[in-house]
Amino acid sequence: MQDKIDQYTAEINAFTPANADELEAFRIKYLGTKGLIKDLFEEFKTVGLEEKRVFGKVLNQFKQLTEAKYNDLKENFNSQLTTHNSQQDLTLPGDGFAVGSRHPLSLVRNEIIDIFKRLGFVVAEGPEIEDDWHNFSALNFPEEHPARDMQDTFFIKKNNGKDDIALRTHTSSVQVRMMENGKPPFRAIMPGRVYRNEAISARAHCFFHQVEGLYIDENVSFADLKQTLYHFVQELYGEGTKVRFRPSYFPFTEPSAEMDVSCTICKGAGCNMCKYSGWVEILGCGMVDPNVLENCGIDSKKYTGFAFGMGIERITNLKYVIRDLRLFSENDERFLKQFKTEII
Ligand code: DAH
Repeated sequence: MQDKIDQYTAEINAFTPANADELEAFRIKYLGTKGLIKDLFEEFKTVGLEEKRVFGKVLNQFKQLTEAKYNDLKENFNSQLTTHNSQQDLTLPGDGFAVGSRHPLSLVRNEIIDIFKRLGFVVAEGPEIEDDWHNFSALNFPEEHPARDMQDTFFIKKNNGKDDIALRTHTSSVQVRMMENGKPPFRAIMPGRVYRNEAISARAHCFFHQVEGLYIDENVSFADLKQTLYHFVQELYGEGTKVRFRPSYFPFTEPSAEMDVSCTICKGAGCNMCKYSGWVEILGCGMVDPNVLENCGIDSKKYTGFAFGMGIERITNLKYVIRDLRLFSENDERFLKQFKTEII
């Protein structure tokens, strides 16, 4: 027994593990349930009384020595690992981290903003909770006019028995705030979220996003409106994209029009995005109605101007062929990470 103990002690003292696996093999070899120390204790049971007296102590000391060695080595190992982490070799390549991507609606909104900024438009914003005046009345929606019903409004609060405070149904309310609070000329675009009481489906949602445009100055004409929007479309969808204006009606513009672009998906040949017509409507526009200018304290004899409003979702669908509006608000990473990341 003494020989074995001497031999193991020498082995143990000389042992230096190169890695965690070797240390674990050491533990199993000596301290494991089927290890050498266990064997020694088994052997100890078979020796005579006199030997027991001598070896009892020796064996226990040997066991303690082995355990102490193992614990020391283990602690050393762990601290080596942490030292390695905290004093990392700065020449190693970095670990890298996942960079998020911009939401497609933000990408497109930013692109729209950039195009108009280059034309000298500034960006303005207004509140999402609006009163009847800014969302409807100032924009020439007469009381009880069916046009108010065209936009399924989420009313929040009544005032003197009448619906008054609501979630804005369009960003046109920001035009009113801008004109009330400033002096012409105005040249601004106003992006934001709008709300309508619609059943949620692939083609409709109870909230979506718009960009409003307003240009008021002396001698602004419909030709300026057409040229500005034509330029915008060439920048957004590429040279050669066709536009057409169809007469329409909005209470706050006169004359009013809707603008279509040649389908960006099939280039006008016909596909299910453009319902085989070759054209897709992207915005409403017109010359600001003199009543609206006067409602906002602007002299309609001196100033004229145009306005337009577009849905960002629609413009995005035409760029990325997204057929279900719900994808925009579900925050499904599998959808979101497909969009290009801007370097920040
Ligand atoms: N506010 C309209 C809507 O939500 C869009 C619109 C049409 C805005 C014509 C305008 C405009 O500024 O001139 O449907």
